Amino acid sequence: MNDLKNYIENHKDRFINELIELLKIPSVSADPAFNQDVLNTAEVVKESLVKAGCDHVEICETPGYPIVYGEKIIDPSLPTVLVYGHYDVQPADPLHLWDSPAFEPIIKKTELHPEGAIFARGACDDKGQMYMHVKALEYMTETGNLPCNVKFMIEGEEEVGSESLGWFVKRNQEKLANDVILISDTGMISNTQPSITTGLRGLSYVEVEVTGPNRDLHSGLYGGAVANPINILTKMIASLHDENNHITIPGFYDKVEDLTREERDEMAKAPFSLEAYKNALDIEEVYGEKGYTTNERNSIRPTLDVNGIWGGYTGEGAKTVIASKAYAKISMRLVPNQDWNEITELFTKHFKSIAPKSVKVKVSPHHGGQGYVTPIDNIGYQAASMAYKDTFGVTPIPQRSGGSIPIVSLFEDELKSKTILMGFGLDSDAIHSPNEHFGIFNYLKGIETIPLFYKHFTNLYQK
Ligand code: BES
Ligand code: MN
Ligand code: MN
Repeated sequence: MNDLKNYIENHKDRFINELIELLKIPSVSADPAFNQDVLNTAEVVKESLVKAGCDHVEICETPGYPIVYGEKIIDPSLPTVLVYGHYDVQPADPLHLWDSPAFEPIIKKTELHPEGAIFARGACDDKGQMYMHVKALEYMTETGNLPCNVKFMIEGEEEVGSESLGWFVKRNQEKLANDVILISDTGMISNTQPSITTGLRGLSYVEVEVTGPNRDLHSGLYGGAVANPINILTKMIASLHDENNHITIPGFYDKVEDLTREERDEMAKAPFSLEAYKNALDIEEVYGEKGYTTNERNSIRPTLDVNGIWGGYTGEGAKTVIASKAYAKISMRLVPNQDWNEITELFTKHFKSIAPKSVKVKVSPHHGGQGYVTPIDNIGYQAASMAYKDTFGVTPIPQRSGGSIPIVSLFEDELKSKTILMGFGLDSDAIHSPNEHFGIFNYLKGIETIPLFYKHFTNLYQK
């Protein structure tokens, strides 16, 4: 497919500029202050799908942010690929840690991206990766190379739990009918060793509130005589892991599937340097559950992490006070088979049970979702594998990821189709962090690889 490479070469500056325009809109779904920006982004995505050659594009209203839907049906007897992505982004905070403003995209070279990377919130997660699909479609329609039917479903609430998407999918099974779901919202090992994500972790996210006395107290007059909710909360949190870093919540591991020695040995073959990993994070030693490697800890094992903790006086100088309340946000990453609702219940029951009588505890579940594993013995995986082989010259390695895209398991339940996770980001692209970026190489390689997926998938489907 020489015309594919030529097309990208001839249009790459425009592809980059269009993405830059998209990245300028701060579509932060978590913060109502950006409401209009999120809605504007949906319009821009809609226009891009029209220009890329969809026959029918619409903005579908939901109880929350709209879903952009587009399709090009060329022949009902051909297979249909459903592309999913999200146009919302994480909040940019803490703003002062960005080297350049989060919504003023710039291109800079880095060690891993010698050809340059676009720095902006959402560059990799997921505007850049979503937009690769729009440009791949443009190529296919402009050059008469679209081999099958395509549907796009781009949502605006992924970073806040995809509630409206669940609502939408349940009501539109017919409209969304497909033969395979294609998502680029994950990563790969490196630019010389691509990988295909074959697993995602589930998630249970809760907020806890510990209340001691009914008002803030003088820490001299009352200290030592009443429970300090911050002291208690930190003690309770510390007890959630034992000395081997196992999680102590009763029943937490009951449904965790242990991988066989063979499966673990297979996993260990993926290229990985612990030294480089530690250097990149500036840590002397890694940390985690006993008996598992770093790559196992962050993919096939469930975890519990405090994401934020607050209470009491955190302003300038000192204030002698015992706060009335302390809070924490806690996430549990789950592996397939663990049910997130069940885990949320186990957590709630346990967390309340370990609190001393001197405090009151409230647990509020935020959101969650199931984990997912994709088999590799299906034509979707094979097509993806062939496509990466064509463009990178190397067969991609199947790899389970630690991240979550909770809606993927709902897709399988409601639409009865498999999802193929063709990610082009790198772990070092700093998604959700300051200075998020996406390599130009990765962006263009994605645009090049996607049409080949369509080609191989259609061929394998017809065999
Ligand atoms: N794209 C990420 C998930 C991801 C990234 C999976 C890299 C695998 C590799 C997605 O946008 C995300 O951030 N998901 C959230 C969960 C969601 C419910 C907020 C996550 O994993 O924290
Ligand atoms: Mn994402
Ligand atoms: Mn994300």
